[in-house]
Amino acid sequence: MKALILAGGAGTRLRPITHTSAKQLVPVANKPILFYGIEAMVAAGITDIGIIVGDTRAEVMAALGDGQRFGAAFTFIPQDAPLGLAHCVLIAADFLGDDDFVMYLGDNLLEQDLGAFVHSFETARAGADPPTAQILLKQVPDPQRFGIAELDKSGNVVRLVEKPDNPPSDLALVGVYLFDCTINEAVRAIAPSPRGELEITDAIQWLVDQGKRVRCELLTGWWIDTGKLTPLLEANRLLLEKIETRIDGKVDDTSTIDGRVVIEAGAIVTNSTLRGPLVIGAGARISDSFVGPFSAVGDGCEVVNSEVEHSVIMERSKVIDIQRLEDSLIGREAVVSRSHLRPRALRLMVGDHCQIDVE
Ligand code: DAU
Repeated sequence: MKALILAGGAGTRLRPITHTSAKQLVPVANKPILFYGIEAMVAAGITDIGIIVGDTRAEVMAALGDGQRFGAAFTFIPQDAPLGLAHCVLIAADFLGDDDFVMYLGDNLLEQDLGAFVHSFETARAGADPPTAQILLKQVPDPQRFGIAELDKSGNVVRLVEKPDNPPSDLALVGVYLFDCTINEAVRAIAPSPRGELEITDAIQWLVDQGKRVRCELLTGWWIDTGKLTPLLEANRLLLEKIETRIDGKVDDTSTIDGRVVIEAGAIVTNSTLRGPLVIGAGARISDSFVGPFSAVGDGCEVVNSEVEHSVIMERSKVIDIQRLEDSLIGREAVVSRSHLRPRALRLMVGDHCQIDVE
């Protein structure tokens, strides 16, 4: 079994952050989203991994390396334009050969035992009426935003539609798919959708129309398509819920720590209160501040004389003299500061390298 991870595309919904960097590399709980998917693959025993990269390929490739640090081997497959999920399968043909594979959307985060999902596909394939594909579904309140599956009374997939105006069900396709080599034929057979993309939903529909069996499973854990601010902060919260305390940095006597916190090596906390769950990255400096629950402060950040809660602050950014920063996403190397101290809570989404001085 191989893996194909999709890390190309254009991230319009997390702008301004994704003007300058790949949406799959935005950190949650101080780790890039994409790393969680790769780690899940390796934990499921899948180490031969193809990665689709687009305009942000230099950054993605630099962050991932050759795969050694994950215990995997990476083959990077450049995609000139984001022409669709099925287009990714089309251009990965040489890498995929005739092997079964798991396709994983690099901006999805989910609580799912990938090993169990793969195992059930392999078991079904060894039985009578083997499936050619297996999809993972989750009930959602807003089916217009996703690929949607319609099942018959026995639970077989009969129809798939991409972002329908009139959804036939509330079962969304989660960004993990299992395929055998028949999908290669399907992606060659379909035409671009009205939005100009080769849709994987159309390719799976083609399999159904050819009388092939498409198995599905329902996801019981959480799933977050992280392309927007609120789900991203929610993913950060869910992952921070799981951390255990580890303090490798320095905390002085005038500081207080409550709850579960991770403080990475080289971080320095002075005259501050940290209330977990939260993570403070390597080399960060927290002084005269309160950092509250569900905050992820990236490597090399500075939080000075400020209150921060439920926010993601990316690497090397500074938050200075801010009365209260909450529900915010601050890009890399940004500066948020204020010259006049008037009490006010800020909710911000700040791009990389920005400098914001609040009057
Ligand atoms: O998140 C689940 C949804 O993902 C499914 O329910 C939909 O059926 C599926 O089409 C997809 O919809 P999105 O509109 O959310 O897909 P998005 O354009 O965000 O792309 C998903 C990932 O694949 C993202 O990491 C970027 C990458 N990608 C996307 C395209 C279109 C590529 O690498 N190349 C591409 O051409």
